[in-house]
Amino acid sequence: MTEKLPSVLFSASEIATRIREMSEDIAKNLPKDLFIVSILKGSFVFTADLMRALFHLGIRPEIDFITLSSYAKGMSAGEIILGRGIAEDVRGREVLLVDDILESGGSLNYARQMLNGLGAANVHIAALLEKPGKRRVEIEAEYVGFKIPDVFVVGYGLDYANRYRELPYIGSIDSEDSSSS
Ligand code: IMP
Ligand code: MG
Repeated sequence: MTEKLPSVLFSASEIATRIREMSEDIAKNLPKDLFIVSILKGSFVFTADLMRALFHLGIRPEIDFITLSSYAKGMSAGEIILGRGIAEDVRGREVLLVDDILESGGSLNYARQMLNGLGAANVHIAALLEKPGKRRVEIEAEYVGFKIPDVFVVGYGLDYANRYRELPYIGSIDSEDSSSS
């Protein structure tokens, strides 16, 4: 039996090129002592590559992680649940909130409100992917890697039911790929 992997939407080298471009935009606009908040689990790979690209441009950030999940397992984002919260002091800081994908906007909106509540000076948003036309909350990311159509994507940190995060590329799966076996 041959292993069927998700088909490639963005290759590892396309992602690397885009992250370099994003890091140049970010370094142009934001201060060197940026505070990065990465939303787990989906954005851990993106954050790791982004922060190292930013290093080469002189950014010397502090980094913290929060864990958000939604009630429904699998594809949909339902009610948002906070797991790990912010452990560091973000008062008065310029914060760059990093997420894997902006869809309904619920997750990023939740995180942004939390950071504002903790006294961040400004909360900027970087999302690796954006699905336009899916927004349920009014929120925009200032830095977006790729706009994608309404397909379910996995890899490069993104999961389907906690699988496929290890793929070095971003792939798409259809319901056949994701069901059973
Ligand atoms: P939002 O809260 O609806 O904007 O959804 C964002 C979260 O849903 C992301 O952080 C992902 O974890 C998850 N998500 C949305 N679409 C996809 C997808 O196509 N693949 C994997 N995860 C997704
Ligand atoms: Mg996720």
